[in-house]
Amino acid sequence: MLVCCWCSLMLIQFPPHFQCLLIIVALQVDFANKSVGGGVTSSGLVQEEIRFLINPELIASRLFTEALGHDECLIITGSEQFSTYTGYAQSYRWSGALQDSLPRDAWHRRCTEIVAIDALQFRSFLDQFHPSKMDRELNKAFCGFARPGEKSECLSAVATGNWGCGVFGGDTRLKALLQLLAAAEAGRDLAYFTFRDVRLMTDVHNMHTFLTERRSCVGEVYGLLLQYYRSECTACRGPRPDVSLYAFIYQRLGSSSPSPSPSPSPSPSSPPPPRSPDSSH
Ligand SMILES: *[C@@H]1O[C@H](CO)[C@@H](O)[C@H](O)[C@H]1NC(C)=O
Repeated sequence: MLVCCWCSLMLIQFPPHFQCLLIIVALQVDFANKSVGGGVTSSGLVQEEIRFLINPELIASRLFTEALGHDECLIITGSEQFSTYTGYAQSYRWSGALQDSLPRDAWHRRCTEIVAIDALQFRSFLDQFHPSKMDRELNKAFCGFARPGEKSECLSAVATGNWGCGVFGGDTRLKALLQLLAAAEAGRDLAYFTFRDVRLMTDVHNMHTFLTERRSCVGEVYGLLLQYYRSECTACRGPRPDVSLYAFIYQRLGSSSPSPSPSPSPSPSSPPPPRSPDSSH
């Protein structure tokens, strides 16, 4: 199914503070190890482990959760936050006890929903543009975001960020775009935390605006990802392609005349169908 509507994107420049209002109404993404919790009971101290430390009930999931398959995610509802913290990894510090004030649902669980999705680890930068790898990440994110049977209006935004972009070697721009595609397909808004990376925030915002204004389909952008792999990655000799992914998308879509166009469809309420990606080669 192709969804031709892009849900809204909110970009947040600061690291997430889990007690802030936005998060209360969002599905929070755990950048998970396929063994959920990762190194929480040993030495890890990044996004996932921090979450498990401040919401320690999450640690119990390790006891009964098998390693996630490529098409699986783990949804955890209702865990309570007990601590606040500062820093990250080496600089992580516990900074005090927290009385979680989130409302409770009918089952007396805190109103939080966390979804664990594990990203692939890439040895080389180019690896992640292979269609099979992009498919895997798209399906994984979609599996985490989609709630079949629930109306789009009833779904909260997804709060996420640079999923699998640290030690796992993912590219932030590709990962942001893949998550945008998955969220659009799942009919959810996305709140994207860029961890003080202003350029990333601008780039993702501009891309989202461009695709929205141009009314590009998820399928069309996916087609461009495949084209990018074929034309920029397969013959690439260096560690990275000469043309960046976003530049490639602007170039391809920009040259195939965008939507505010004449063409035979007269009614303003029915926008012209998006052009199919360049099929001339
Ligand atoms: C994933 O977690 C396991 C422990 O559960 C750990 O041994 C492994 O190193 C972790 N993988 C990564 C890439 O951090």
